[in-house]
Amino acid sequence: MPIADWPRRNGDADAERQIEEEVSKRLAGMSLDAKVGQMIQSEITHLSPRDAREHCIGSVLNGGGSWPNGKRGSVADWLRLADAYHAASLDSASGVPILWGTDAVHGHNNVFGATIFPHNIGLGAADDASLVEAIARATAREVAATGIDWTFAPTLAVVRDDRWGRTYESYSEDPRIVRAYAERMVKGLQGPAGGRGFLAAGKVLATAKHFIGDGGTAGVDQGDAVCPEAALRDIHGAGHLSALAAGAQVVMAAFNSWNGDKVHGHRYLLTQVLKERLGFTGFVISDWNGCQQLAEARGESWAKAVSAGVDMLMVEHEWPEALADLQASVRAGEVAEARIDDAVRRILRVKARAGLFAKGPPSSRGFAGGPLAPVEHRRLARQAVRESLVLLKNDAGLLPLRRDLNVLVAGAHADDIGRQCGGWSLTWQGDGNGNDDFPNAQSVLGGIQAAVAGRGNVRFAPDGAFDDPPDVAIVVFGEDPYAEGEGDIAHLSYSAAYAEPLATLRSLKARGVPVVSVFVTGRPLWVNPELNASDAFVVAWLPGSEGGGVADVLFRDAAGRIIDFRGKLAFSWPRDPWQTSVNRGDEPYEPLFPYGFGLRYADGATASRRLCETPSRPAVDAPSRPRSQGSGS
Ligand code: GLC
Repeated sequence: MPIADWPRRNGDADAERQIEEEVSKRLAGMSLDAKVGQMIQSEITHLSPRDAREHCIGSVLNGGGSWPNGKRGSVADWLRLADAYHAASLDSASGVPILWGTDAVHGHNNVFGATIFPHNIGLGAADDASLVEAIARATAREVAATGIDWTFAPTLAVVRDDRWGRTYESYSEDPRIVRAYAERMVKGLQGPAGGRGFLAAGKVLATAKHFIGDGGTAGVDQGDAVCPEAALRDIHGAGHLSALAAGAQVVMAAFNSWNGDKVHGHRYLLTQVLKERLGFTGFVISDWNGCQQLAEARGESWAKAVSAGVDMLMVEHEWPEALADLQASVRAGEVAEARIDDAVRRILRVKARAGLFAKGPPSSRGFAGGPLAPVEHRRLARQAVRESLVLLKNDAGLLPLRRDLNVLVAGAHADDIGRQCGGWSLTWQGDGNGNDDFPNAQSVLGGIQAAVAGRGNVRFAPDGAFDDPPDVAIVVFGEDPYAEGEGDIAHLSYSAAYAEPLATLRSLKARGVPVVSVFVTGRPLWVNPELNASDAFVVAWLPGSEGGGVADVLFRDAAGRIIDFRGKLAFSWPRDPWQTSVNRGDEPYEPLFPYGFGLRYADGATASRRLCETPSRPAVDAPSRPRSQGSGS
């Protein structure tokens, strides 16, 4: 398809003349070594402030599970390190202030005490763009509180096969939702492009990621998106076009390939489409060690990525090699110095737009020091949980529940804030976390206990055991946390991987206890057996730190009033474990629950129906896939 079929955009209105003059002046005064240093981003564990000063390094990041002073480090710890890098960079030969980027992808999720919002799949179910912009604003303030300038968000994947371990990082299988949210997320994070508040205090740089095609790889992390260019543009590019129009200053290249060619080395996509046709004037950053996948010979890989259009190299620890190799490639004429100048110009331009040359140390800037999880952010997160819940079944109108009941709460996810947050929560995989790692949070159980307090009674038995029969059982179960390729699966059968919850549900059902299932999951899964063993079934996705939002909807309030469900499926729900990529618009389109499905209390009770519990073919796991080279330490 000729490039002319991509929408043309005018260049960024922001590229004002004075910024360009300042950038040109700085660029003219930089040595080749300093320029190449500016193109390197490395990890805080492997690059010290001293290294940053000596080599004029342009950026640092903290990978998932990497902190300045341990998992429970304070805001002061983050600010102290940010100040150290800032001072070191000003003291470098180039004097260019450093940028710190982080994965604040559902709140400032790496930081102890931060608000953890529902992961994107739940926000997609809420279908509430204003909510998403408010979440972005709140996230930006908490990121700014720690002295960090930039988040690697939003993820704009339009996921078409739910086996992918990053399905929960996607808002929807529908480009419409992703397009709408992309604009609002970028505006919430950065402020209105060209407006007075653009990148002002309490705002951070946004990243449109991962450009392009990450959701189209048949469920294989870092796989191959095999599709026509029109689909790449109209499905997988929908969010990116919207994010760029909203002024996103950074684009992260995708690990995946497109029709067999790695995007990190794809000059047509990264330069001709993104920069020349779409008029993107910010900079392109690689993904985590993404450049090194381009060639056996490491030295060749940087040159290939930079020549294709990557401007900044995200390098976990091989920054000395990247520096030396790229400097040598330029001196050997393998990479044009004009390309280096363009890359550094873009980086300096974004730093100038972000006011970095004028701002003082991170700890002196607006919102530095906090607070994290102020009450208004926690309220917003709880609202997001409520709006994201999807009701799939409500036989005999079991829900909503009165608060004066005897409630049995069961399931491994009921009192586990780490599990309800999912991946990218304090640690990369979201594992190894206890409730006391989340001081400003409430578990689903905690919310139920608070709802029933003073009127009814709550007993918690993870395995569902009881002596005296309860009026109702609420079983909170689901997936254990994962991130990236670690979460790739071969099919969608939940019970093939997790057998215990079904046993609990069936045991309760057999003893005549009405059962409400609350399913904590990063994606639609085949749960026909679990649905059959439940009277009511609620999908909570990955709700984050405010688990109390679940009880807000399950129970009437003290005056008997209800908060009705609002959530609707932003992903089609499979009728079979092997129906892994059923999407709105398919012909034929035969999901169990279609895109947009979601019951309301106002819809009344559902009639009991028994779903088929036999997969079309045995749901046995394929050999696990090779670990992704994700950011985790
Ligand atoms: C990861 C992810 C990317 C993230 C980056 C830095 O591997 O692909 O989304 O922003 O590395 O953590």
